[in-house]
Amino acid sequence: MSPKLPSYLFPWLIFLTFSSLYFFSSFLSLQSFFSSCSSPTSRLIAISNCNLFSGHWVSDPDRTPLYDQTCPFHRNAWNCLRNERQNMSVINSWKWVPRNCQLNRIDPFRFLGRMRNRNIGFVGDSLNENFLASFLCILRAADEGAKKWKKKGSWRGAYFPKFNVTVAYHRAVLLSRYQWQPKQENAGMQDGSEGFYRVDVDVPADDWAKIAGFYDVLVFNTGHWWNNDKFPKEKPLVFYQAGQPIVPPLGMLDGLKVVLVNMITYIQKEFPGNTLKFWRLQSPRHFYGGDWNQNGSCLFNRPLEENELDSWFEPRNNGVNKEARLLNAVIQETLQGTGIQLLDLTHLSEFRSDAHPAIWLGRKDAVAIWGQDCMHWCLPGVPDTWVDILSQLILDGLKEN
Ligand SMILES: *[C@@H]1O[C@H](CO)[C@@H](O)[C@H](O)[C@H]1NC(C)=O
Ligand SMILES: *[C@@H]1O[C@H](CO)[C@@H](O)[C@H](O)[C@H]1NC(C)=O
Ligand SMILES: *[C@@H]1O[C@H](CO)[C@@H](O)[C@H](O)[C@H]1NC(C)=O
Repeated sequence: MSPKLPSYLFPWLIFLTFSSLYFFSSFLSLQSFFSSCSSPTSRLIAISNCNLFSGHWVSDPDRTPLYDQTCPFHRNAWNCLRNERQNMSVINSWKWVPRNCQLNRIDPFRFLGRMRNRNIGFVGDSLNENFLASFLCILRAADEGAKKWKKKGSWRGAYFPKFNVTVAYHRAVLLSRYQWQPKQENAGMQDGSEGFYRVDVDVPADDWAKIAGFYDVLVFNTGHWWNNDKFPKEKPLVFYQAGQPIVPPLGMLDGLKVVLVNMITYIQKEFPGNTLKFWRLQSPRHFYGGDWNQNGSCLFNRPLEENELDSWFEPRNNGVNKEARLLNAVIQETLQGTGIQLLDLTHLSEFRSDAHPAIWLGRKDAVAIWGQDCMHWCLPGVPDTWVDILSQLILDGLKEN
């Protein structure tokens, strides 16, 4: 697997397995952390008084999306309307209702008006791209002249000329820079490996290294690539700091921690204090009956019930979808005290087993080759609710600035 795969491969490549007992055992200590937390985001209440991330979904048959399959910012594999998934109107009739506060639907005119002459950036993996695609299609309702925008190392984005606003995504799946090192250049590798990926924990990937000062709002994430599917034993990650291999070598999750610490330090140092900074937690997967490469499926017609969630996601159950909560624990711990706001979209998304592209991928052979996509989200769909939440937090954040 090379770092520059053809883009049509990505939708099916972002799948995870945490099958090894090694990882499971290293998380036992984190599980007490979970049980001590009655709500996944209870810590945030202190900051904002209002927790948008805790609540439930209610059916509202009058609800309709703000865009359709003709939006030019779609990615084919997520364009479930175009790919003729049935019941999309049912999927999009669910409304997230936070327990103790009001979540307003984004008004794209008002939002872009408030954002005039400002820019919003996403940095991370394809789940942030999924988020961006939803955001662009929604904002386009207020400015049909929106143009594709791809500068400053961005993977994709749009410029909204009526408001002089740019919203873009910088692809950096590990956040740190990583490069393939073939075996011949590196004597002493273990037998059986074809080389390794060198990860410079203290160097941001080029794609977002030069964006400080351009964006007024940034949404970071990493997580969906930290697994043995992406980086198997034959192609492991090897972590470097200050140009030297870290000794003894770090396992993947310790590597993630070191990368997080270093990238957060970089962000705090290089990005202006008045840049609004968010960190999006993991987007949960919904593979049922097996993992992505074991005919795992997500052909569901309704969201999960609250009392079903633990059986799907609780690490103690050791199911195929446990990694979101496991990684969140690591990420939340590292972010504590940084002032970067948590965007804890995990819990609300855990309910939505009904809203992945599944078999409606726009290519006949896709499922046979890559399995169902129970990882990314149909658009229109769940990320539209992420946009409602993010836009509300951005407007609140601008008020305080
Ligand atoms: C659409 O929804 C109806 C009612 O829930 C269900 O009977 C039907 O199987 C659904 N169709 C698909 C393709 O999921
Ligand atoms: C557009 O916004 C940028 C900031 O992102 C600002 O520097 C520039 O002056 C603005 N252009 C106009 C025409 O207002
Ligand atoms: C997946 O399903 C196909 C077709 O039914 C079957 O041939 C294959 O063995 C299954 N794979 C796994 C891992 O269960």
